[in-house]
Amino acid sequence: MDKLLIEGGTALTGEAIISGAKNAALPLLCAALLTREPLTLTNVPALHDIATMLKLLAQMGVKIEKVGSGSTAETITLDASGLHNPVAPYELVKTMRASVLVLGPLAARCGEARVSLPGGCAIGARPVDQHIKGLNAMGAETAVEQGYVQVRASRLKGARLFTDMVTVTGTENLMMAACLADGETVIENAAREPEVVDLANCLVAMGARISGAGTDVIRIRGVGRLSGTTHRIMPDRIETGTYLCAAAATGGDIRLTRTSACYLDAVIDKLMDAGCEITVERDAIRLKAPARLNAVSLRTSPYPAFPTDMQAQFMAINTLAEGTAVIRETIFENRFMHAVELIRLGADIRIDGNTAIVRGVPALQGATVMATDLRASASLVIAGLAARGETLIERIYHLDRGYEHIETKLAALGARVKRVK
Ligand code: UD1
Repeated sequence: MDKLLIEGGTALTGEAIISGAKNAALPLLCAALLTREPLTLTNVPALHDIATMLKLLAQMGVKIEKVGSGSTAETITLDASGLHNPVAPYELVKTMRASVLVLGPLAARCGEARVSLPGGCAIGARPVDQHIKGLNAMGAETAVEQGYVQVRASRLKGARLFTDMVTVTGTENLMMAACLADGETVIENAAREPEVVDLANCLVAMGARISGAGTDVIRIRGVGRLSGTTHRIMPDRIETGTYLCAAAATGGDIRLTRTSACYLDAVIDKLMDAGCEITVERDAIRLKAPARLNAVSLRTSPYPAFPTDMQAQFMAINTLAEGTAVIRETIFENRFMHAVELIRLGADIRIDGNTAIVRGVPALQGATVMATDLRASASLVIAGLAARGETLIERIYHLDRGYEHIETKLAALGARVKRVK
């Protein structure tokens, strides 16, 4: 298993290009299931999760054509005209929960689907009951058998849907299903994440009739069929935020390009509170760190509030800040696994339920640590870059799920980092 070896203590400087957003790309790939015509996506990040999703779609009968590879952003064309096997097997779903995003499109296009239940994961139970409840309200018959959700529906019917909590992939699944349903669907309490808007924009370009994406009420008027289109995937706001934190923690000065600050208000606000100087350009962000950061408290919540996917990275920067930060995680019940690893690097963190109290220390010391999930791994990279001496991060396959060419991008910013096989 690959490991990442970091020699800490170098301030990050220079420029890096931000990739397309993983969490926008995954539902967009699934949107190809809704049409018999080819869907072309550009700015697709080269990530393990994308490869998993492509594998899943291919075994359903989707033809996939790729242009470009390696460090260039990929263009992928998906042709689901030969879709013949509406099944998502456990072997693929267990490695990536976002596989459940095929459920809505398959129910709408094929009238049947068999999708493995994802089960729990490192950060919490993460059920998909809201996805199923929504499809039931649209007239689908669902049953859970042998760990699989079975869905049957001759044609889905538009309905008024209300989710018990804000769910990102739940909103995306139901929005995709509603595009081909009979009549109007209204999703209330919808997720407002920019990735939902990116998906809606692509679906509209495919002929869907959607309004309200980006607000908490989305209206979809079903159409008989969708066509193909070409869509450029939005930049990854979490990758952007992660590199900003890495620069902040190391006293760096970096400029990130092909990204946008407009999806990152809550994160940029906190970085400025921490004492960073931020300059926003149309397609770029520059961050200049102070000599020492101030501690910043935060509470995770659905967009546009502070994202749970940036919580771990902010815990890492707070370990070295002046003062004490209180971090409250309100989305996932078990998302502090990185804290114990940060403590191994010398951080002073106390966990009390969903609250972490982080007292800044003057320095961290390198050590061997273990990555437990995607964003937890990112926090260990940030801490390792800022720590004195060598940090060895084990199980970095988590990082490869969500950060394109992380060691190359960090090395371009002056970090001393290498992948150890
Ligand atoms: C998505 C993101 C993930 C991010 C999360 C929250 C993708 C591929 N993943 O995950 O990176 O951390 O949003 O911003 O976009 N819940 C239920 N029942 C459901 C659905 C959700 O109880 O049917 C709960 C979850 O357990 C969690 C909360 O609702 O506590 C929010 O989860 P949700 O927004 O659905 O997360 P994901 O869409 O899985």
